Amino acid sequence: EEDVYILAIESSCDETAAAVVKNGREVLSNIISSQIALHTIYGGVVPEIASRKHIEKINQVVEAALSEAGMTMEEMDAVGVTYGPGLVGALLVGVAEAKAIAYAAKKPLVGVHHIEGHVSANFIEHPELEPPFMCLIVSGGHTHLVVVKDYGEFEILGRTRDDAAGEAFDKVARAVGLGYPGGPKIDKAAKEGNPQAIRFPRAKVEANVYDFSFSGLKSAVLNHINHAKMMGEEINVPDLAASFQNAVVDVLVSHTIAAAKEYGFHKVAIAGGVASNSALREGMKKACSKAGIDFYYPSPIYCTDNAAMIGVAAYYEYMGGARAGWDLNAVPNLKL
Ligand code: KG4
Ligand code: ZN
Repeated sequence: EEDVYILAIESSCDETAAAVVKNGREVLSNIISSQIALHTIYGGVVPEIASRKHIEKINQVVEAALSEAGMTMEEMDAVGVTYGPGLVGALLVGVAEAKAIAYAAKKPLVGVHHIEGHVSANFIEHPELEPPFMCLIVSGGHTHLVVVKDYGEFEILGRTRDDAAGEAFDKVARAVGLGYPGGPKIDKAAKEGNPQAIRFPRAKVEANVYDFSFSGLKSAVLNHINHAKMMGEEINVPDLAASFQNAVVDVLVSHTIAAAKEYGFHKVAIAGGVASNSALREGMKKACSKAGIDFYYPSPIYCTDNAAMIGVAAYYEYMGGARAGWDLNAVPNLKL
């Protein structure tokens, strides 16, 4: 059998990324140009700045991905690119780049759903992992509990009704002055704190047991902070971070394990930026081992936005016959 090489591009938010992936599982290069430092001063991603930075960096990043893999465009079998969901101006840069490259090199173009990319990150370091399995996707923009029925085929069991998990981390971090992006800062501060110090609510969503809601928790944390300020009390940031994180992890783990048991899955994976969270990893590890479930998670570099995961997803789409037309466009609210 012939080896299949994919050049992949990702630019949906604030990382300009390109990668070369062999046979859907082996990462030959994974280049990420992060804009985090640029957006930090604004306390969040500024869409127009993101687009401008992508257009500046994209060619360099693609060139670096090919040269680090020691390969040329002629040796690629296809070009994969994230076409949604994400920031429209940011997505357009990656889509236009991928189209231009594929057209010039006469290679097929494959459009990839960003969330499918996050899920696929698990295939990189777990060669034995194959669908079907259950996956919790937790990022700055998404919180989904899905059944991965086959490559590229998902059934959504639950999703957030309001804030995404990462968004809640970012908002709480901002409120206690930890800065952006908040997830890693809360994670670090929580290591010095007591997760039982403050009892925050665990949201119940009535309509669907597997849906999530984080806005109530976020409000409870903000109320706690405001109350302390009003009373002239010092806020114990590590305790607050640990208690908030504990409340989030509690809900994420219990929903995922309950769904795995109900649907009879013995394989559970996590994905997305928040999948880097140390308490979530520990909580899932413990709960899965107790329930006799195999637990999979990507290294932090494959949790955050990257193009290697897009290359993996593109490979399976490509093998399944998916080809995008030259009219491929960015779809900011693309559904899974
Ligand atoms: O997947 P990602 O890089 O971008 C999106 O597709 O949204 O996720 C970014 C999110 C941010 O909200 C960030 O605060 C969060 O992931 N995050 C974390 C951790 N590392 C990143 N949240 C909790 N704990 C972490 N260690
Ligand atoms: Zn993402």
